[in-house]
Amino acid sequence: MSPTEVVTPPPPAAPERKPDPCIVIIFGASGDLTKRKLLPALYHLVQGNLLPSEIAVVGVARRDLTKTFAPDMQDGVIAGGGVEKDDPRLAPFIEKVQYHTMNFDDPNGYDSLKTLLASIDEKFGTKGNRLFYLAVAPEYFSDIIGFLGKHGMAKPEGGAKWVRTIIEKPFGHDLLSARALNDEVNKVFDEDQIFRIDHYLGKETVQNILVFRFANSIFEHVWNRNYVDHIEITAAEAIGIEGRGPFYEQAGLLRDVIQNHVMEVLSFIAMEPPVSFEAAAVRAEKVKVWRAITPIAPEHAVRGQYGPSTIDGKAVLGYRQEERVSPTSQTETYAALKLEIENWRWAGVPFYIRAGKRMAKRLTEVTIMFKQPPLRLFKNKEGKSDHIEPNFISMRIQPDDGITLRFGAKVPGPSMDIAAVDMDFSYADAFGPSSNNGYERLLLDAMLGDATLFAHRDGVEATWTIMTPILENWAKTPVSDFPNYPAGTWGPTASDAMMKADGRKWRKL
Ligand SMILES: NC(=O)c1ccc[n+]([C@@H]2O[C@H](COP(=O)([O-])OP(=O)(O)OC[C@H]3O[C@@H](n4cnc5c(N)ncnc54)[C@H](OP(=O)(O)O)[C@@H]3O)[C@@H](O)[C@H]2O)c1
Repeated sequence: MSPTEVVTPPPPAAPERKPDPCIVIIFGASGDLTKRKLLPALYHLVQGNLLPSEIAVVGVARRDLTKTFAPDMQDGVIAGGGVEKDDPRLAPFIEKVQYHTMNFDDPNGYDSLKTLLASIDEKFGTKGNRLFYLAVAPEYFSDIIGFLGKHGMAKPEGGAKWVRTIIEKPFGHDLLSARALNDEVNKVFDEDQIFRIDHYLGKETVQNILVFRFANSIFEHVWNRNYVDHIEITAAEAIGIEGRGPFYEQAGLLRDVIQNHVMEVLSFIAMEPPVSFEAAAVRAEKVKVWRAITPIAPEHAVRGQYGPSTIDGKAVLGYRQEERVSPTSQTETYAALKLEIENWRWAGVPFYIRAGKRMAKRLTEVTIMFKQPPLRLFKNKEGKSDHIEPNFISMRIQPDDGITLRFGAKVPGPSMDIAAVDMDFSYADAFGPSSNNGYERLLLDAMLGDATLFAHRDGVEATWTIMTPILENWAKTPVSDFPNYPAGTWGPTASDAMMKADGRKWRKL
């Protein structure tokens, strides 16, 4: 028997949610994201019979890849998992994958793209519906959107039902730039045409936070300041910056991971139950959480940068030695924050967040650490009870997705000795392994016009409002101790000291 079993019968098949015929146009299609994630995800949707047959894909980028793009995407789909080379649906899907060479700042390129899309509508019956996916560096967002507007491509034409755009992160660089970008985008697209994507929200485990909290009666009533001591969110990556020096030098960890992914997870953990799962209702509850976060004191924002080290016997470069990184770089590759949410549910419960590159292991998880019982009945021989561990719920978002509940149990024997034990739920054990990469659900939702799992303008601005003062303060106060943690460790000692000042320590992961 596996430790985790599905005990209810399979639910009845969900009502069919097939989107309208459409063309998915990916700007930046020669990049890593398209081959590794987007095309495999689209094909997983085809395999799941979730798309109509009238779907086409057009990749757009600068290099001329007209001949190689489709076969290259086929390789990406197979490498993405769960697809056999001779899958009978693969060849018909790849036939509808095309490529358009253009420079994003060339107006003529948009004219010829428009002509190409019209010809695809004729050939494949895609009915004029368009999903423009901006898988490009953020400096191109405004240009591309502006050109789409000028060339009459941002509104449905000739009987088409819809035109939508998915915009990749990072959405802005700080509050002012995010506002300016929102203004630019809103000049061309109405808010309900815009899908700001955060791929964390495509993860089953993140969506499951809402199920865990709001579809069960046993957790929600202890999910508040009366029972919770504190909450920890860790988003650790074992890899470094993987050759993306220029991007990382401008972004840094706080912008790259915390402003978006971690704040999204935090909002799911902390929000009130929405009245429904409609986009407006969910987004409203998330924004309430972010707006209730009080300004973060400088001593509650720790930054770090990894230095050289040896991992598994191999020498690893420090951040400052990475390609196209300044040898005196002040960019943070680690950040730890203490946040306070000033509302009735959470006042007095600190949320500790840490995220970093080149950490001891790759893992994203949330720990809800509960208070100790008020009466400590169970004492050891010295008359103390501090050997008893507090209860916690740990939600593993990646890898090894699942949930652990830790509690105390009596050790068999003649005395009342207590040991901590774990009850474990594993996604893979319960539901089997999955090749999905998270983009499936988000691409499908965008094609269906369901924005529940996408960021709204208000949300983006609310999270930048929290992060911008930290970034401004860091820019004003250069650090002298970078690098301050060796690659392959859990970050700088200042992060442990921040916890220690509160009489706590990070949970060992
Ligand atoms: N990779 C990931 O796993 C990942 C995950 C989450 C978010 N994202 C975000 O997704 C976006 C794209 O990521 P990526 O890793 O795919 O980027 P990338 O590998 O750097 O690709 C950039 C793409 O933009 C094209 N491009 C750049 N300048 C151009 C111009 N002036 N005209 C036409 N094409 C131009 C490049 O085309 P050429 O090759 O022809 O120059 C290439 O197709 C970024 O915003 C990133 O932050 C990526």
